Amino acid sequence: MRHSLFSPHTDLMKYEIREIVDLVSKIKTLDPTLTIFYENIGDPVAKGWPVPSFLKELIIEQTKDDSAFAYTNSKGRPETTEWIAAYAKKFSPGIKLESKDVLITSGLGAAISMMYEMLPKGTRVLQPSPSYPTHASMESFNAKSHSISYNLDPENSWQPDLKHMEEQIVANPSVVGILLINPNNPTGAIYSKETCEKVVALAEKYNLFIISDEIYFRLVYGDTKFPQISEIAENRVPLIVMRGLSKDVPWPGARCGWLEFHGTHLDESFFSFCEAIKKRVLMEVCSTTLPQFLLPQIYDHPDFPAWLKQYKEGLDETITEITQILEKTPGLKVHRAFGAFYMLPIFAPGVLKPGQTLPIQNTEVRTLIEKITADPSLPLDKRFAYYLLASTGICVVPASSFFSPYFGFRITTLYRDKQKRAEIYKKLSDSVQEYLNS
Ligand SMILES: Cc1ncc(COP(=O)(O)O)c(C=O)c1O
Repeated sequence: MRHSLFSPHTDLMKYEIREIVDLVSKIKTLDPTLTIFYENIGDPVAKGWPVPSFLKELIIEQTKDDSAFAYTNSKGRPETTEWIAAYAKKFSPGIKLESKDVLITSGLGAAISMMYEMLPKGTRVLQPSPSYPTHASMESFNAKSHSISYNLDPENSWQPDLKHMEEQIVANPSVVGILLINPNNPTGAIYSKETCEKVVALAEKYNLFIISDEIYFRLVYGDTKFPQISEIAENRVPLIVMRGLSKDVPWPGARCGWLEFHGTHLDESFFSFCEAIKKRVLMEVCSTTLPQFLLPQIYDHPDFPAWLKQYKEGLDETITEITQILEKTPGLKVHRAFGAFYMLPIFAPGVLKPGQTLPIQNTEVRTLIEKITADPSLPLDKRFAYYLLASTGICVVPASSFFSPYFGFRITTLYRDKQKRAEIYKKLSDSVQEYLNS
């Protein structure tokens, strides 16, 4: 090549949720008898949640209309963006969102990449730590530098550490926005109304915008209330709300999400940033058409509330059971999830050490894991996750891969089979103890 094609910044992109599957493939080649329990990815369908029949019927009916196979408007099918603007007002009656400020994308993954890509050089969005890796990766890859983050506090139900958030805003004048992920991936936390009010007040004080990733906003359990930040920020702080179709319907393969630009009248440069994202989306020609036709029909369907109710009840029950099993594990701190379908148990400080192991029956697999974990720069929770995988087939994602300051691992709360679930989590708890005592 006339010029090097090596990009030194590629290392800033981490997506262990999928990368660990490469290790699974290698292990399976060496030991095809090992059964894998995929706790790595938040896909309800893959975990055995049935696609509701009303959704399948809607899809079949819609395929009779040829226009569902065509391109649609680049920024989103107008009837659907209008429906989204009206739908947002059902939850936040005080907002003035218009359909021109709704942008539909082929999943939120695509929206996240485009959004950070359109940030002007030298500007940064403060990331939570731990964070959903696509946000932290794409923000830092775009900035060609490590992410600037605020801590989530496990001692305070994983709420953002607001003191740390303010310190980071003050210390980093390049910060122009704050990312919130609420309900949270990977911790399962719901931020309280008070927390959201304080974040809005900080954004107001320092003249920043907020991005609120709310892809799990319907998945909130028990008496916990989900605060609508669009209502709190209205006429005070510019805000981008991100929602989508992947998690609650469930239809992650539809690849359909949307952005709502709130308060574009409040700040000229925020307005131009939103217009740049709208322009960027034109380059994609259009986002997936079929789910855009169906989006209003799904959420307005008379069967949707009953589906959501039993889905949430099932997830809530799973969270309770998993918490009860894992919280008895010495050396592990477990915080119950109140939303989404993840939890992030963390190791007590100092309990993880280099040299800890779990028994691996297959000699070739053991050699592979010993070779990988011989790297002294490997985070200690990644070492644990690799031994756990090779020893038991349980595939979790290390907390360090979520840009976390704490060692631990993320699990999903989607496993359907009650008895098998109890066995897996008991095995996980036993393996943690065995590993820590090795
Ligand atoms: C917090 C969060 N945001 C965005 C996404 C991406 O969702 P999708 O691309 O399926 O719309 C995910 C997926 O797991 C997520 O957890």
